[in-house]
Amino acid sequence: MTPLKATAIAHPNIAFIKYWGDVDPSQHLPANGSISMNLDALSTMTTVAFVDDLPDDQVILNGTPPDVVTRQRVGAHLDHLREWAGTDHRAQVFSRNSFPAGTGLASSASAFAALTLAAAAALDLALPKSHLSAMARLGSGSASRSIPAGFVEWAAGESHETSCAFSIAPPDHWTLCDCIAVTCTTHKVVGSTEGKARATTSPIYRARVESARAALDPCRAAIHARDLAALGALMETDAVLMHAVTMTSHPPVYYWMPTTLAVLQSALAWRAEGLPVYFTLDAGPNVHCLCEETNAAPVAERLRAIPGVKTVIVARPGPGAHLTDHHLF
Ligand code: PMV
Repeated sequence: MTPLKATAIAHPNIAFIKYWGDVDPSQHLPANGSISMNLDALSTMTTVAFVDDLPDDQVILNGTPPDVVTRQRVGAHLDHLREWAGTDHRAQVFSRNSFPAGTGLASSASAFAALTLAAAAALDLALPKSHLSAMARLGSGSASRSIPAGFVEWAAGESHETSCAFSIAPPDHWTLCDCIAVTCTTHKVVGSTEGKARATTSPIYRARVESARAALDPCRAAIHARDLAALGALMETDAVLMHAVTMTSHPPVYYWMPTTLAVLQSALAWRAEGLPVYFTLDAGPNVHCLCEETNAAPVAERLRAIPGVKTVIVARPGPGAHLTDHHLF
């Protein structure tokens, strides 16, 4: 049989209102909905081919076979798609990140979004976007938000079918820029899966979930109105609450490094001087500084001048996951 092969490109996303805790961890059914923006400057490209006589899945990430845990996670995700397609053919998977080497910006969101779309296409599964998003969610919750384009909301839902993401505005809706201050290039100590599993042990977990739920309507409205001050206030509150949850979980996780705090304090100072810039952070020490396109150059320049900032990447609203005819093998 000729292998069925397909290649997909997906972009990671930065969440303005975050996903940090599950009601059902086995399916990544989140405690609250979340809202994000895809990042055009970063991407993952993945080619998947299903072959009938292959004894096991073969996975190559950025030129090398991954560790056992990652390989098993990829295999388990392919199993969901195989089950859906009614096949047991093993797959060859080649995946490559465009991220500058050594930035510590590896992303499970773009990885599982690209893997889901490429595998579904290789299996000739014509799934609607909402279904692809739900499938991507099984690999990594935030991957559900890298399937649709631009500004995206993941509805928490109550089941596998209803917990999926949709676009709330296309990439060209708003010339928002994310200036990412890379402060640390080593691998994070505690991954987001483990960090999230500890979240419910924090005494402020419930308060943060309630706050995030209440922030969804105003966040969506701020995006529609292109209101950076409103979006920024909501985004900073949720980011700091999420990190307060990690720092008060048992055992605690401190993702912030000294340079992280220096960047946060600088952003507050620049804003007080009249430069509209707002921050958020994922489960790591890098800081995402959001500003209008017109201010991206001065923000990036100021970030580069902070001791400890290794590099700055400027990203704009990115497209959703899409197929390409250019294969990796
Ligand atoms: O789905 P995961 O395991 O990539 O977790 C995402 C966690 C955060 O990036 C911190 C928040 C988010 O909503 O993207």
